[in-house]
Parts: sequence; C-alpha cells; structure tokens
Amino acid sequence: MSFTVAIDGPAASGKGTISRAVAARFGFAHLDTGVLYRAVGVKGGDPIAAARGLSAQDLARDDLRTGEAGQAASKVAAIPEVRAALVQFQRDFAARAEGAVLDGRDIGTVICPDAEVKLFVTASPEVRAHRRWLELGGDAGQVLADVRERDDRDMNRADAPLRPAPDAIVIDTSELDAEAAIAAACAAIEARL
Ligand code: C5P
Repeated sequence: MSFTVAIDGPAASGKGTISRAVAARFGFAHLDTGVLYRAVGVKGGDPIAAARGLSAQDLARDDLRTGEAGQAASKVAAIPEVRAALVQFQRDFAARAEGAVLDGRDIGTVICPDAEVKLFVTASPEVRAHRRWLELGGDAGQVLADVRERDDRDMNRADAPLRPAPDAIVIDTSELDAEAAIAAACAAIEARL
C-alpha cells in the first residue's frame, strides 16, 4: 500500500518548496517531475528519443534550473510522445515508495489520478515572476513575460494541460509565506493519513 501526494501548479507557485517540506516532514520520497522535462529539453536532438532514453546522468546535469531550461522543458512537454515516454517512470516511483510526493503539472490529473491527497498550488503571475526574479535575476519585465509564456503553453496544450484535478485542494500562495503554505499542505495531508 502506498500513500501518494500529488502537487501540481504553475512555475514558481511554491510547489517545489512545499513538496520538499512535506516529504521531509512525513518521511516520503519526493520526485520533482519538472526535472524530467528539463532534462529532455536541454539534451537537444530528437526530444522523443531523449525522453525514451533518459539516464540518471541526464537528470544530474547542473544546468537544469535555468530559465532557458524551463522554457525548453515546456516546449518538449507539449509533445504527446515525450509525455508518454515518462509516464511509467513516474507511476513506478509513486508505487514503489510507501509514501511519495510527486510535483509537476499533471500529477493529480494524469499520472496519479488516485492519489490520496491532491494539492494545486498557485499564485498570481506577478508574485511568481517576482520570486523567479529573486532566484535567477535578469530583467524583471522579461521574467514576467517568460512566466506568462510558460503558463500559456502549459495551460493550453492539448495533452495533459495544467489544471487542478476536480478533487484537488487549492492553495493560493500569493499572500502566504512559505511557512503558512507548508502548514496548509501538511494539514491537508494529516487529514487523510
Ligand atoms: O516545474 P518546472 O518548472 O521544473 O517544469 C518545467 C516544465 O516542464 C513546465 O513548464 C512544464 O511544461 C513541464 N512539466 C510538465 N509536466 C510535469 C512537470 C513539468 O509538463 N508533470
């Protein structure tokens, strides 16, 4: 029996911070599924072949967190064959662990539709862009434009678009600090344990 927490949301919504905190708090394994798409995006060449042949080495590259990698990820993430190639790895991760947290865009809707807890973490584009800018620097207006562009691509693609599962609990972090957002997530999980 495994207990799965699905955490979805747009870029810089706080879902990564919440996922890491929840995993540490409950002793659950954590998979940041964005890393899979980032690794495919930065690999170059045929993205379908890259997704099918993804290795531990690809996932350990240290250029995966850049803004360019995020944009490249969201482009390859719109290709159905790329998504299909990554499904089983994610489901196996969830099934293998006694407790697992997976964060991404389609965990509650496609990858783990039977997850015990589904959270949808969001915030206004301005707040998210500000966070990204604090993290990565650069031109603030360009960072906001990039956030909007990625949202648009992730929400409007035909295959597994970013949206809350019908049974997801929405946590809007626009006016929450990390501690309050983590507390809200932990409360939702405790209620289901
Ligand atoms: O979460 P992160 O910013 O690392 O994700 C990078 C990109 O990967 C997203 O913009 C999205 O296009 C894609 N992605 C996805 N499905 C997931 C996780 C990430 O399509 N489960």
